[in-house]
Amino acid sequence: MKEIDFRYGFLFFLMFLSSNWVIGAIKSQSTEEAYVTLLYGDEFLLGVRVLGKSIRNTGSTKDMVVLVSDGVSQYANDLLRADGWIVEKISLLSNPNQVRPKRFWGVYTKLKVFNMTKYKKVVYLDADTIVVKSIEDLFKCGKFCANLKHSERLNSGVMVIEPSDEVFKDMMSKVTTLPSYTGGDQGFLNSYYAGFANARVYEPNQPLDVLNSRKVPEMERLSTLYNADVGLYMLANKWMVDEKELRVIHYTLGPLKPWDWWTSWLLKPVDVWQNVRVRLQESLPGTGGGKNPRDELLVKFLFLVPLLLMVISYYKSCLQTRSLFDHIRQLYYKIRAGGVLAYSSVPSSTILSDQQPKVPAFLGGISVCVCFAAVLVSLGLSLVIIPRQVMPWTGLLLMYEWTFTLLFLQFGSYLYLVYQWGKAVANQAGQFRADSTSLDHESGKGHQRQQSYCDIAACYYGLGMAFLAILAPALPSIFGITALFLRLGLMVVGGLVLLSFMTYAAEHLSIRSFTRGFEEKDMHRSRSICFLC
Ligand SMILES: *[C@@H]1O[C@H](CO)[C@@H](O)[C@H](O)[C@H]1NC(C)=O
Repeated sequence: MKEIDFRYGFLFFLMFLSSNWVIGAIKSQSTEEAYVTLLYGDEFLLGVRVLGKSIRNTGSTKDMVVLVSDGVSQYANDLLRADGWIVEKISLLSNPNQVRPKRFWGVYTKLKVFNMTKYKKVVYLDADTIVVKSIEDLFKCGKFCANLKHSERLNSGVMVIEPSDEVFKDMMSKVTTLPSYTGGDQGFLNSYYAGFANARVYEPNQPLDVLNSRKVPEMERLSTLYNADVGLYMLANKWMVDEKELRVIHYTLGPLKPWDWWTSWLLKPVDVWQNVRVRLQESLPGTGGGKNPRDELLVKFLFLVPLLLMVISYYKSCLQTRSLFDHIRQLYYKIRAGGVLAYSSVPSSTILSDQQPKVPAFLGGISVCVCFAAVLVSLGLSLVIIPRQVMPWTGLLLMYEWTFTLLFLQFGSYLYLVYQWGKAVANQAGQFRADSTSLDHESGKGHQRQQSYCDIAACYYGLGMAFLAILAPALPSIFGITALFLRLGLMVVGGLVLLSFMTYAAEHLSIRSFTRGFEEKDMHRSRSICFLC
């Protein structure tokens, strides 16, 4: 018994020791090394959240520090803390360069990472990167490690830094004198670490004793695997490095950031980012899957408004003016009249049909221009209205909904004007029949029905356009093409077909409206929101 007790006691003692050692190790690890990123404004908040989630997904327990500037909201701060980030407020370092892109006003702030002397080593990651495989081995890298990119220059999107008071002070003293080819921090670092292009490549798989016995180099180059930018993927439509070994994806392609809904439809690698995004915890109410409570409300509103508009206009133009019985009766008249929309008993109609409307020659050209302008305005307005960081499908559906609504409103208004124009022309030409107004007045009721007749042709054009508009962007998916340039090429082809169809439709519809206005010159047409129906 005693022996067993002793053995248990020894075991417990061992466990106690080892657990203490484990805790100590984790603690010392988490206080000595950290992942760091920067947040200048709420626009990149989702990027930082996804980055954090991706780091934790690789099993890392190290500190994650986000340096936030004044422009970041309290909501963003709370959310990041709830996600497990250590939030440190910093003031912006002003950019000493006079000639620089406007968005670079605070980028020198990145240099403050060199001042994080609380940590022995930090791995800095831009907010538009994502970690796809553990990068803990980066902490074994030397004093300063980064990637070569853009020819012989280093990229500051992923860096391993040994914070140092000395280096930081030295940098600050040179900020105004050293040139920066970008007008930002990256250019400065390239000047500061002159000769970086000749640095040796960091080999993470070296035995530890080799790593420890060598003289720590001033700078080391990282493999592309640690900073694989999307441009690298786009060129060949595949990662030009071993995809299984990929560690960090950097979404660098200019304004194409992965949190904007449309990039998901252009760049395949954004799928990786979106997959992490949808698994974001609901650390604050309503924020699961990278949702933003305000955006959610706006999206619902945006979804409903066009639908409501459509229902109202349909009600006004089709249901209010006549009953189902009228529909049928009119169809009957139409068949009896052999497709000619006229009540044979109405004298004014017969008089009018003698008179051929003279459609202005330039009407078609104007209509095509108006139609294209309306398309551009609709697309632009929709892009502005829709919140940028919604899910890709939500964004696409809203885009279709709003573009079509705005297009119909605009081109419909134009058609109405053309209709009025036709009327005016007819009235000018037919002033000699001023006495016929009394007759028209009698037949007004019959005409009232006729003019609200749903224009089948317009509806067909609308449907055809909707079909083509959906088909054109979907073509690459139908043929399974993922290469960016081929994809864009196919979309352009689809777009051209759509454009020629729209040219035809715009011309045809406007001439129809003009002719109708001409024929119905003395009638009163009630204005409705949806002029096409
Ligand atoms: C650098 O860090 C030190 C100590 O953490 C701090 O007192 C100092 O204000 C920092 N310098 C700048 C320019 O942020």
